[in-house]
Amino acid sequence: MPKDKDDGGWKKFVWNSDTGEFLGRTGGSWAKIGFFYLIFYGCLAGVFVGTIQAMLLTLSSYKPTWQDRVAPPGLTHTPRSEKQEMTFNLNDVESFLPYTKALKDFLAQYDDDKQSDPTKFEDCGAEPADYKHRGDLDSDVGSRRACRFSRSLLGPCSGIEDRTYGFQEGKPCVIVKLNRVVNFRPRPPLSNESIPLDAQSKVQPYVVPLFCANKRDEDAGKVGEVKYHGIAGGFPLQYYPYYGKLLHPQYLQPLVALQFTNLTMNTEVRIECKVFGENIHYHDKDRYQGRFDIKLKINNL
Ligand SMILES: *[C@@H]1O[C@H](CO)[C@@H](O)[C@H](O)[C@H]1NC(C)=O
Ligand SMILES: *[C@@H]1O[C@H](CO)[C@@H](O)[C@H](O)[C@H]1NC(C)=O
Repeated sequence: MPKDKDDGGWKKFVWNSDTGEFLGRTGGSWAKIGFFYLIFYGCLAGVFVGTIQAMLLTLSSYKPTWQDRVAPPGLTHTPRSEKQEMTFNLNDVESFLPYTKALKDFLAQYDDDKQSDPTKFEDCGAEPADYKHRGDLDSDVGSRRACRFSRSLLGPCSGIEDRTYGFQEGKPCVIVKLNRVVNFRPRPPLSNESIPLDAQSKVQPYVVPLFCANKRDEDAGKVGEVKYHGIAGGFPLQYYPYYGKLLHPQYLQPLVALQFTNLTMNTEVRIECKVFGENIHYHDKDRYQGRFDIKLKINNL
C-alpha cells in the first residue's frame, strides 16, 4: 500500500493539477528561470567569442607570433618504414619495390616541369650561397618565389636514369630533407673543430653539412662509402628562410641523396645521419631532431 502512495506523490510532483505546477514550479516561474539562463549563457558565449576574436586580432597570418621555443627542425628521410629498417634482397625485385615506389612518389614534386613557371620559381645557383631575403615576413605583398631544385642534382639517385634508385645494384639511395620551419635560418658550423673528425672535411661556407656513420661501434667498417648527392652534399643556405605556406606556397626544400655504395651484405648495419650547425641541436627524447637512424640490411643470398 505505501508503495501506491509513493507513486501518487511522485506523479503529483511531475504535474500538480491543483496548483498548476509542473515539476514543482508554475509556468510563470519556469519562464522566469528560463529567461535568466538564456541571458546567463548568452553572456558566457559572448565573453568566449570576444576573447577568441581579440586574440585572433593579435595574430599575423604570415608570421608565427610565438617562435622563441621552436625546436630545431627534424631530419626526415624517404623511403621510411615504421620500424626504421630497410631490408631487401638483391635477387628479389618485389622486396625493394615499396622503397623505389616511395622514392618515385616523393620525387614527383621535384619534376622539372613543375618548376618551370618563372613567376613562381627562380634559379638560385648550384653552388651554396647566402640566405635569400625575400622581404619581410609580415608584409603581405603577394607570394614569394621559390628556388628551383632539380632532380638531376641527385645524380644516380635522381631516378632519371636508374629507376631502381640503386637498389638493383645493391647501392640503395635514401633521400633526406630538413623539415620546414617558418623563418628558420640554419647556421653552418663556425669551424670544423666542433664536429666529428670524419665529418670535418664537409664543412664549407653557406652549407649545413649532413654526415652519416655507423651508430654502433661494432658496425665500424661495415657502412662502406656513403656518397652525398645534392648541392655540396648538404643543405645550402640560399633555400632559407622559408616564408610559410601562405607566402611561399611553391617552396621546395633542398634535398640530399645518400647512396650506400659498399654496405656489407647480409648483415644488419645501423646508420646514424646528422646535420651539423650552430643552431641545430639534438635531443635524447626526439630521435628526429637534427638526426635520424636507420637499420639497413641487404641480402644477396
Ligand atoms: C679544418 O679547417 C682547417 C682550417 O679552417 C683546415 O686547414 C683543415 O684542413 C680542416 N680539416 C678538415 C678535416 O677538413
Ligand atoms: C668495399 O668494402 C670492402 C670491405 O668491407 C673493401 O675491402 C673494398 O675495398 C670496398 N670496395 C670499394 C670499392 O671501396
